[in-house]
Amino acid sequence: MRAHEAGALHGDIGNRGPAWLRPPVDVNDLVPQLWPRNVARGAGGALAVAGLDVRDLAAEFGTPVYVLDEDDLRARSREFRDAFPDADVYYAGKAFLCRAVVRMIAEEGLFLDVCTGGELATALSAGMEPARIGFHGNNKSVAELTRAVDAGVGRIIVDSFAEIDRLTALARERGVRPRVLVRVTVGVEAHTHEFIATAHEDQKFGFSLAGGAAAAAAFKILDEDVLELRGLHSHIGSQIFDASGFEVSARRVLALQAQIRDARGVELPELDLGGGFGIAYTTQDDPATPHELAKRLRKIVDGECAAEKLAVPHLSIEPGRAIVGPAVFTLYEVGTVKDVDGIRTYVSVDGGMSDNIRTALYDASYSATVANRVSAAEPMLARVVGKHCESGDIVVKDEFLPADVQPGDLVAVPGTGAYCRSMASNYNHVPRPPVVAVREGRARLIVRRETEDDLLALDVG
Ligand SMILES: Cc1ncc(COP(=O)(O)O)c(C=O)c1O
Repeated sequence: MRAHEAGALHGDIGNRGPAWLRPPVDVNDLVPQLWPRNVARGAGGALAVAGLDVRDLAAEFGTPVYVLDEDDLRARSREFRDAFPDADVYYAGKAFLCRAVVRMIAEEGLFLDVCTGGELATALSAGMEPARIGFHGNNKSVAELTRAVDAGVGRIIVDSFAEIDRLTALARERGVRPRVLVRVTVGVEAHTHEFIATAHEDQKFGFSLAGGAAAAAAFKILDEDVLELRGLHSHIGSQIFDASGFEVSARRVLALQAQIRDARGVELPELDLGGGFGIAYTTQDDPATPHELAKRLRKIVDGECAAEKLAVPHLSIEPGRAIVGPAVFTLYEVGTVKDVDGIRTYVSVDGGMSDNIRTALYDASYSATVANRVSAAEPMLARVVGKHCESGDIVVKDEFLPADVQPGDLVAVPGTGAYCRSMASNYNHVPRPPVVAVREGRARLIVRRETEDDLLALDVG
């Protein structure tokens, strides 16, 4: 086993937990904003999703398993679409992508943002209309660009001068005029509850605004006139709760829009403000609704456009986490329970950092509950950990579980729809879990579990 500086990484807080974490009045309670809308305690106190008992799901599909409340995902997609009726809402596929989800978001009227050839292939193979796909990436290969151009992808978000050259050559060769946005690095980086508006030019994505590269990229595209420049794009970060980051970003990007108009007499018709809208992982998180977000973003864009005397451009946004994150929970089975006297209790489950790397990678916080029953036992501060050979293999750093939690219990962790399955690995040769979509009392496997044969299939010799 490799020692990991878990104490340093996660803040060693002993048996107290973080200051905000309080023992619940009833350890069996579900905090509604943390769970998909169709999850509740059903017969015998076990969790049920859209009428299906999680014990039956575990028996049929095994554990760990990602359980998707399909109606929840669809409702979130519709909420965004309805909140932004004159905008294009691109679901950011990096959060979680498979063919079934592509079809769900398409049926709900969303567009799709992809950022690699693999994501593009998944989208196309699911029948996503190419014109409704936006293609991102800071290092798109010629092969990926060729595929996107040949498929007729609706927007390519160009990220570098090398990419502009590649795409220009490709467009000339193919006799087409791809529609592009220029990704602008606006010097704002927003994460969680705060944003910082200094020094974030230092990153691999996009054209620097402050350094003049963004303007130069727009001028180059306009002057060569092989690509159709539709607008500017900015994405400032993830898990954002504070609209002020968007305000600074919109102000800067619209100032560039005005600069382009003044220099070339062209008003770009579109503006993409990216994604990054926060969700609730714990009771500490209080995300805005899509309608509140829409109101704030509109106000910001309208205000900045009025100040710059620009016509309000057609908006797009790219939420990923906010659509799929809260619609999924992961169901695990408890294998061992270890009490480290006076410090904490480790509850080991049959997955871990291979199905949810976010805790180890970002120090992310999650919640959990015992899912197969209710308990009359006292709340006990527990740490839910995985089965990997890494002491940083933590799924939920601190959560109150009933003191009688035991091997064989099911533990459910909500909010795992985004950046969990899509970032899953085979560390320790653990096969990746399946994804099961549940709707109106029926469960449908949409991504199957990997098998040991799958793992061995790549070994040659
Ligand atoms: C360009 C772009 N758009 C959208 C997103 C989606 O972000 P989120 O899932 O936080 O909404 C990302 C995430 O990294 C991104 O890089």
